[in-house]
Amino acid sequence: MKEVVIKTKVTSCLQEELPAHLRELVEIAKNKTKDAYCPYSHYHVGAAALLADGQILTGANQENAAYPSGLCAERTTLFAANANNPHTAVQALAIACYTNGNFTYDPASPCGACRQVMLETEHRFGQPMKVVLYGERECYMFDSAADLLPVCFTSENLEG
Ligand code: THU
Repeated sequence: MKEVVIKTKVTSCLQEELPAHLRELVEIAKNKTKDAYCPYSHYHVGAAALLADGQILTGANQENAAYPSGLCAERTTLFAANANNPHTAVQALAIACYTNGNFTYDPASPCGACRQVMLETEHRFGQPMKVVLYGERECYMFDSAADLLPVCFTSENLEG
């Protein structure tokens, strides 16, 4: 038996300390929280995706009275980006959450399903996607979606 320690890298910084294009992307994600449809959780999530051609696509969480039928902001954004731009890589994704009258103090962690979709986006375009999670206290910046999902399931697993 052997123990394996898996390390992941995350950069912690203030929004103002991010490179200009990511600072702007975070601002757009923060603004997008206003378009969340979240009458059940009242938890507003906004996301913004920067594409390789410079386009920025946005999304927000969409809830449903039948709870599992809703979708997170990250997936509404990436699915819209990829469905409308199937040949254009996503270079960066920013996410912000707003609840009880404030943006969250700490960055909120994307759920497992969203991490899996982020990873697929990276793989389909063969290049890393930066992920920035906004928090009032600090932002987390990941250089790659893979850093958010170690020991992941990929197309290679399907080959057995
Ligand atoms: N949500 C997101 O949009 N992204 C996340 O990373 C976590 C959770 C949404 C789903 C649901 O509409 C609400 O936040 C509360 O879970």
